[in-house]
Order: sequence, then C-alpha cells, then structure tokens
Amino acid sequence: MANPSAVCNGHLHHHHHQKQNNLLKSGVCKKNGITKGMKKNGVSNGTLYKKTFIEHFEQAPMYVAVLTFVGFGVGTIFGYLRDFMRAWGLEKRNIAEEREQQKDFVPLYQDFENFYTRNLYMRIRDNWNRPICSVPGPQFDLMERVTDDYNWTFRFTGRTIKNVINMGSYNYLGFAETEPNALKTVTKELQKYGTGICSTRQEMGTLDKHVELEKLVAKFLGVDDAMVFGMGFATNSMNIPALVGKGCLILSDELNHTSLVLGARLSGATIRIFKHNNMQSLEKLLRDAIIYGQPRSRRAWRKIIILVEGIYSMEGSIVRLPEIVSLKKKYKAYLYLDEAHSIGAVGATGRGVVEYFGMSPDDVDVLMGTFTKSFGAAGGYIAGKKDLVDFLRTHSHSAVYATSMCPPVAEQIIRAMKCLMGLDGTTQGLQRVRQLGKNTRYFRRRLHEMGFIIYGNDDSPVVPLLLYMPGKIGAFARRMLEKNIGVVVVGFPATPITESRARFCVSAAHTREMLDTVLNALDELGDFLQLKYSRYSKSSHPELYEETRFELEE
Ligand SMILES: Cc1ncc(COP(=O)(O)O)c(C=O)c1O
Repeated sequence: MANPSAVCNGHLHHHHHQKQNNLLKSGVCKKNGITKGMKKNGVSNGTLYKKTFIEHFEQAPMYVAVLTFVGFGVGTIFGYLRDFMRAWGLEKRNIAEEREQQKDFVPLYQDFENFYTRNLYMRIRDNWNRPICSVPGPQFDLMERVTDDYNWTFRFTGRTIKNVINMGSYNYLGFAETEPNALKTVTKELQKYGTGICSTRQEMGTLDKHVELEKLVAKFLGVDDAMVFGMGFATNSMNIPALVGKGCLILSDELNHTSLVLGARLSGATIRIFKHNNMQSLEKLLRDAIIYGQPRSRRAWRKIIILVEGIYSMEGSIVRLPEIVSLKKKYKAYLYLDEAHSIGAVGATGRGVVEYFGMSPDDVDVLMGTFTKSFGAAGGYIAGKKDLVDFLRTHSHSAVYATSMCPPVAEQIIRAMKCLMGLDGTTQGLQRVRQLGKNTRYFRRRLHEMGFIIYGNDDSPVVPLLLYMPGKIGAFARRMLEKNIGVVVVGFPATPITESRARFCVSAAHTREMLDTVLNALDELGDFLQLKYSRYSKSSHPELYEETRFELEE
C-alpha cells in the first residue's frame, strides 16, 4: 500500500500524469499522514480528511507508451492494407455498405468512422458481449462461442463453460444470489403482487411496497425522505432535467457516467467540465461562474450544481467529498452525488462515501444511488430533504411517465437493505461489508506487490489493472478465460487510447481461495505477457521501500 506514486490529500495535483517530483512529494505526504495547513485558495484540504486519502495513478514507463502507439500504428497500417484489399475484391467485405442503386443518395455508412471497429476492434471482439447463463454470483456459467470468420459472426456450440470465477459483475455484497432461503420473501412478494405494475407512480402504480422501500432508504441514508425509480440510468437522466434548466450551470466531472451526462444535456442547462476529481479545476470553474455569471447577459446563474460520483467505475477512484463539500459551501452551489458504485460498497456500515469520510448526509443536497450493484436488484433512488423529494414526486419525468418499480425487485432491495442495517436480526450484512473491505484491500495489495500498475483508491472494490497495449487486451482476456476466470477488459473509446485496462470488481462473496486462484493466474500471466509495469512496488515488505523513499526525498 505504501507506494511512492500514491497521491495523498495534501496534493492538489494528483491526476494520472504525475511528474517525478510529485511522486517524491507525495512520499513526504504519506509520511506525515495528513499534511497540515495546505491552504490553497481558501480550502484547507489537509484538515478536511479524517484519515489518509491515498490514490494511485502511476504513469506508465516511456517505453510502454511508445510501444502502445506502435501497436496501434501497426494495427492501423494493416487496417489500411486490408481495406485496400477489400476495395479490390481480394478480401471478403463483411461490413454493411451502400447498395449500388443508392449511390446517389446521402451515404448511410461512413467508411472512415468504421475503420477502428472494422480493423482493430474486430480482432479482439470475442472478449466482449459474451452471454452468461447463470446468476452473476462469485462464479458463473458462460455460453461457449466460436467464430468461423475471424470475429465477424459468432456461433454457439451449445456447451456451457461452468464455474468461471466472476471478476466482472458489480455484485459487491454478494446479494446477486439464488439461495432459496435468502429469496423466500422475494418469492412471496412475487406471488402476492405478480411482476408488473402496469401504471406510473402518479396514476395507479404506487404500492405499499414502494412506500415501505422509500421509508427504508431514507432511514438507511439518514435523511428526511427518498424516492425510488425503476431504472438507475433513468434516475439520473430523467431527474437532473427536473432539477435544473436554462440559466443554470452544471459543473460535471470529466469521467461522469453517461446517465449523468445525458441528464445534464437534456436539462438544457450550461455544462462545464472539470478535470477528474481535481479540486483546483473545480474551484476555478466555481470562481469564474460567480465572477462572470451567464455569458453575454452577465446575470448571475440561477443555480449552480456540481455532479460527481462516489466511486468512478473505470478509475477506481473515490470522490474527494470533503473538499467538494467545502467548495460547494464556500461558493453556495448545490451538490448531486451519484453513489451507484459506492452505496453498500464503502463506509463502515455500507452507507457509501458520506460515511466513508465521516460526513453528514446533510452536506450533500441530492443523494442518488442505484440498486443494481450492491443490492443485486434494479432501479435507483434520490434522497435528501423533504422539499427535494416532494418536488420530484410531482415533477420527475420518471414519476409521471414511467412505470413504477416491479414489486419483487422492491422486496429484494428491502431484504438486502434490512440485512445491511441488521434489521433481519443478524450481523450478516455487516459481515458482508467487512468481507468486501478485506477482500478489496487484500486483492489490491497483492497486485501492487506483484508489480502491476493498479489505479484508484485502496478502499475501492473497483480495481483497474493497466494493460496499455492493444494486443495485450485480447491475449489477457482469452488466457484468463482459459484459466476459467471471467474478466472485463476495456479499451478505447471507453478509456484514453493509451490506457487500456482490465477492470476487476471485488465481491464480498469471493472466497480467499477464489481470489488466490485469480491472483496466481495474474502473477503467471503478468510475467508471460510482461504486464508488470510498475517501477515501485516490487517488494512485499513495505518497510523496505519506506527506506528507499526516504533516500529519494533527500
Ligand atoms: C455512476 C452510475 N450511475 C448510474 C448508472 C446507471 O444505473 P443502472 O445500471 O442501474 O441503470 C450506472 C450504471 O452502470 C453508473 O455506473
């Protein structure tokens, strides 16, 4: 864990592309634990944190960056070559094309836009969209798939690949399960209410189940009230437009989820983007917004709202909530926090990043989260002050125009949430939260020790492992599956072109044996594919490199 590339709370410059001297400085930070009085622009960020806040974004060595570009370069050259052969009829053309008789119309297919898909993605496409055929628990079953035409089409063999260790699902607390005893109440509700509501919340679609769930969510989060929606994505995309509109300003983290981006765009408000989790960048936007107001008219913005997530699902970073709250109070802005990946997953009792930082839920104006990850269900919530929730009950597009949540789904959330709160009379929920924390720290520590470049916060169950080179994405995922381990790999355009990665999601349901199987496979594969890029953490004795770093500082 003690890694000189760590970024600690004393440092405002912490983005991926750290310079060497930053690395050294952060070493100093770590040693002091919490740096005192780093007062910058009025925000004393050092004193805002109750414990050390460490995030890793080690930059790849130069040769890796060069080889990554060479990899894409070679792929591109072969792409042109094969497009040339396709044009001359020397290679089969599988891609959709204009028909001869439509040549005079506006083209439907743009050749160049598809270049990447056709020539680069197609080579490794077998590693995505693979259908699963079991509950996405700690192990799952996959449908075996083969291709006869180099990934243009796939054919199912009818066989199932059984008991693959699942490192990809957002099943943080292991509530995606099929154990009949656990699902007893869900089955009961299914028999009582059926599956469909066939109406919206405002018409005939509010059941006692919904009211019960909303009261429970509010109690769980420690706020006045909450409203639930049938879909997490729609919770963002349909409620942000209800909260802000023309003349309002949205300050949005550059890595925010598409549902937040879509909601922001649909709202008609002005959107400005700040660098990921970068407080200087956010403060600059806030200051400019106050000083200059709206463009041209120079009138004050009607509302300023900051949109952030609790845990970022591609970086494994945790939002710098204490600093954001202090900024939002200083500039009198609103804060909208999407806890899709953090609710249930962090905080001593699973109450998300607010609890993780020891803060009050009152500090966040709009608490949003989903039930699709930690709760193994579907849907989302918005919680906060009574005024806010009352307003949404009447104005939310989702409340007025969308069918309400299916009752057995509501019951699944209730059962999981009650378990977390200990209302089921056991400590099982708490144990799950603790197990997730333990698994997360163990998994991350071992990967650091092996010398992989791992992004994000030590407490984040989302664990990105950097692969960089395009050829390694395919090789990595295929070899892992051969070892019966299912992984999610991510490349351009979901990540910057030079930062392809594998993204693991640790679960409380993973046993130590499963994690060790995965770690051993990664250790072996890391050597074989030369993925151990990190220049720092080759030692399993933290005290050893504590010393080295001391020398570096001198
Ligand atoms: C940050 C964030 N917000 C919202 C959503 C959408 O939620 P759902 O999948 O429940 O529709 C996701 C889903 O992946 C997410 O990661």
